[in-house]
Amino acid sequence: MNEKYKKLIGEAEQARKKAYTPYSKFKVGAAILTSEGRIFSGCNIENASFGLTICAERVAVFKAISEGFKKFEAIAIIADTIRPCYPCGACRQVILEFGEDITLIMANLKGDIKINKIKELLPEAFNKNDLL
Ligand code: THU
Repeated sequence: MNEKYKKLIGEAEQARKKAYTPYSKFKVGAAILTSEGRIFSGCNIENASFGLTICAERVAVFKAISEGFKKFEAIAIIADTIRPCYPCGACRQVILEFGEDITLIMANLKGDIKINKIKELLPEAFNKNDLL
């Protein structure tokens, strides 16, 4: 795996430490790489009103968008899971919004890694082309 992706996983792992998860205790970290080479990270943030919880991936994406970046190359996701941690369906849809060729790097703390394009993980997805 290339150094860029290793660094991205490292940033996701650091962000995971900041997860706010008093209810599930399940910490997730994410880091997204823009085509300009910038990295934005995110962690999951839970709420006493459980449905208001936001996943790490969406925090990372929304941070990047709100800072004016919307072209993405890859996003890394990491959690303390048996297999590499895959993004939930809602996060897949949000990632796909910004490009079907974005690379997803799924990881866990043991060092297992899986790589897929977002379009492979959300085939036949509803997308913005359907609206135009
Ligand atoms: N979670 C994420 O942050 N990303 C995912 O893709 C799946 C789930 C979080 C939400 C919640 O805080 C905890 O993991 C358990 O579902």
